[in-house]
Amino acid sequence: MSIRATSDQWWKNGVVYCLDVETFRDGDGDGCGDLAGLTDRIDHLVGTGVTVLWLMPFQPSPDRDDGYDITDFYAVDPRLGTLGDFVELVRTAHGRGLRVIIDLVVNHTSDQHPWFQAARADRSSRYRDWYVWADEPEADPALGEVFPGDQQGVWAYDEATEQYYLHRFYPHQPDLNVANPAVRTEIARIAGLWLELGVSGFRVDAVPFLLEMNGIEDAPTVDPHEYLFDLRQFISRRRGDAVLLGEVNLPTEEQREYFGDERGGGLDLIFNFAVMEKTWLSLARQDATPVAETLSALPSVPFDCQWASFLRNHDELTLDQLGEHEREECFAAFGPDPSMQLYGRGLRRRLPTMLANDRDRIEMAYSLLFSLPGTPVLFYGEEIGMGENLEVPDRLAVRTPMQWSSEEGGGFSTAPVDRWPAPMPGGDFGPDKVNVAAQRRDPESLLSWMERLMRRRNETPELGFGAWKVLDSGVPAVLAQRCDWEGSTVLALHNFAEEPCEVSLTLEGLDDAVALDDLLDGDRHELDGPKAEVALGRYGYRWFRVVREGVPLQP
Ligand code: GLC
Repeated sequence: MSIRATSDQWWKNGVVYCLDVETFRDGDGDGCGDLAGLTDRIDHLVGTGVTVLWLMPFQPSPDRDDGYDITDFYAVDPRLGTLGDFVELVRTAHGRGLRVIIDLVVNHTSDQHPWFQAARADRSSRYRDWYVWADEPEADPALGEVFPGDQQGVWAYDEATEQYYLHRFYPHQPDLNVANPAVRTEIARIAGLWLELGVSGFRVDAVPFLLEMNGIEDAPTVDPHEYLFDLRQFISRRRGDAVLLGEVNLPTEEQREYFGDERGGGLDLIFNFAVMEKTWLSLARQDATPVAETLSALPSVPFDCQWASFLRNHDELTLDQLGEHEREECFAAFGPDPSMQLYGRGLRRRLPTMLANDRDRIEMAYSLLFSLPGTPVLFYGEEIGMGENLEVPDRLAVRTPMQWSSEEGGGFSTAPVDRWPAPMPGGDFGPDKVNVAAQRRDPESLLSWMERLMRRRNETPELGFGAWKVLDSGVPAVLAQRCDWEGSTVLALHNFAEEPCEVSLTLEGLDDAVALDDLLDGDRHELDGPKAEVALGRYGYRWFRVVREGVPLQP
């Protein structure tokens, strides 16, 4: 019997869709999105081609970091619904073949969490050592601020107990002490609850910070990656096919350690920050070289593991791995106004506004995202080309409500806008111009195009499971990739420049190639030997499956 990896490794081929329940759809008319409203929209997601839903934090929270500051890991924020609503959502999703993963935010808690309240009320509390304390914290360059300008250091003084506590993020987000075995047990218990309620895994927040030992007095000398491997084992015992998708914003060589050894054993998926950042540099320069070089230098990943590809997410578009001049180039191209920039390293904008709403260029960028080596991750609203609202502070500018229709309230909510989490943008990106309902009815819309792209991606296992490499296209503006899987070959070509061009590719080892089957627009290119000459238009893109002598064509 042959067992195909495709039946198990669901995380390698599919489309992950990230959303915040609070801003997706208000089901009860109070102005706040909720689980019931989201459940009503599951068919939109499934119909579009999404295979995995990633929910941003929905647990009780004072909401000082948009829910990434949790006060109870075992409950649902009452503004968003109940545990019962959560189970209905998961069940509805499963009924449509959609998996659900959720954020696991355990680097820190809210300072309102009962554990921290107990810890700071009394030095002898059993929760004291669940956090990281110091009498006189020493300056440590390894402990940098995550939100420069917004944060004032990483140690805050607690008057009552006369010690400092560590917070790598905001002062209202005290770091948990992962060196404490009781904390690790509790993290497993939290994961255990949600696994039991049907989730297929977790997007693990801020992994390097979670495993950070600096600042912890008498920290054990064990390699902290071991803690991650222990969590992975626990999760596998509870649910064998559950995944850990990690936020590890580090250079790729360092990221590799979080996958585990050559057989894995750590995170299953890791967001590829380096490729994302170099893609933006390539877009700015109209030159594929930066992203081509970064792709070629990626370390190989274990058989069960995969990169997660993205162009935008719920945070600022961070460009922290670029050199200063490179970052400046991106700022000049995509966010020249200081109001668009954040923390000196990123842009608080969505993709279509950065690409001047140029449809050719937007299509090229998403075609690239869906053909990169990795599982593509979308942020809600990307499927219809939503823009940001710069009137909304900080990173929240890109987290405005989903635009469902041109009706009053944009189809998000019937409540007055002052009760919403944030107002939608206006102008060219307002709900009257950009919304799901109109795009569903227009075969030429971005949404209709995205649906075709997602369907094609899901039906092209070579991209998710294959061995890939960057080819020499001879044209600096063009990224050419080849993916080989079970005797089938797919080529993906992307022209980063406005100028149309022609590339010539050698199809090594494919002497029996007779044609290229265009997977996106239907044209078939006859070949004369294992060499392909392909024309690419303005920001052109093409996906081809190589047709080989005697091998039947796939649909
Ligand atoms: C991650 C999240 C970000 C959040 C931070 C603190 O970086 O992506 O939104 O503010 O963690 O939890």
